[in-house]
Amino acid sequence: MPAVRRRAFHALPVRVCHWINVLAMVGMVMSGWGIYNASPLFNFTFPLPLTLGGWLGGNIAWHLAVMWALAANGLFYLIWGVVSGHFRQRFFPLSPRAVGRDLGLALRFRLPHQLTEYNAVQKAMYLGVLLCGVLLVLSGLSIWKPVQFSGLVALFGGFDFARYVHFFAMSGVVAFVVIHVVMVLLVPKTLPRMIIGGGGEEPSNER
Ligand code: HEM
Repeated sequence: MPAVRRRAFHALPVRVCHWINVLAMVGMVMSGWGIYNASPLFNFTFPLPLTLGGWLGGNIAWHLAVMWALAANGLFYLIWGVVSGHFRQRFFPLSPRAVGRDLGLALRFRLPHQLTEYNAVQKAMYLGVLLCGVLLVLSGLSIWKPVQFSGLVALFGGFDFARYVHFFAMSGVVAFVVIHVVMVLLVPKTLPRMIIGGGGEEPSNER
């Protein structure tokens, strides 16, 4: 049996990265909506109060500045998550069958929230939003520097298609955040330990 010692369920790097990511995502989405409004892909624009920067130049300045925080923080979290074994321990094992089972239970309000383990729906949602984040950064690089990243642009099927990928990945993140925040409101005891830690026992082999 592995040695067990008391420690926070959410390790410090997870908590710090999570909250930096929340601030960066809000800045990126709001400034991005302002940029979108200057040349909409669809038959709608975002309300001005939900945008950041005031005018197109300001929107772009915010987007390109916050981008560095989002990318650096995301890269650190991804590398730490792989090296420490965090992703392997917390997000796996995962199977479509388990997701279907837990989703069915959740929709009938019968899924108990275990404080020491993510359920399969949570695991799938966290992996899904990480994928959206990676797609956002890669498609964003393609739109920002299409000449320098011409290989990436080609991978996305061209500049116009990369814009759609960027938009739909943003939509995925926003949809995730809406569901995620509703879930936190339904199980509020998860919030303090994501801020100050505490509340978990786990095998000591996660560094
Ligand atoms: C105000 C907004 C947010 C709140 C209140 C919030 C709250 C939380 C809480 C309480 C948990 C822990 C859940 C548990 O222990 O069962 C969590 C985990 C997580 N959240 Fe959020 N969150 C917010 C925004 C976001 C955003 C914007 C993203 C990404 C786009 C995000 C991604 C994640 C991920 C990936 C995890 C799992 C972290 C891990 O274990 O590595 N959250 N969040």
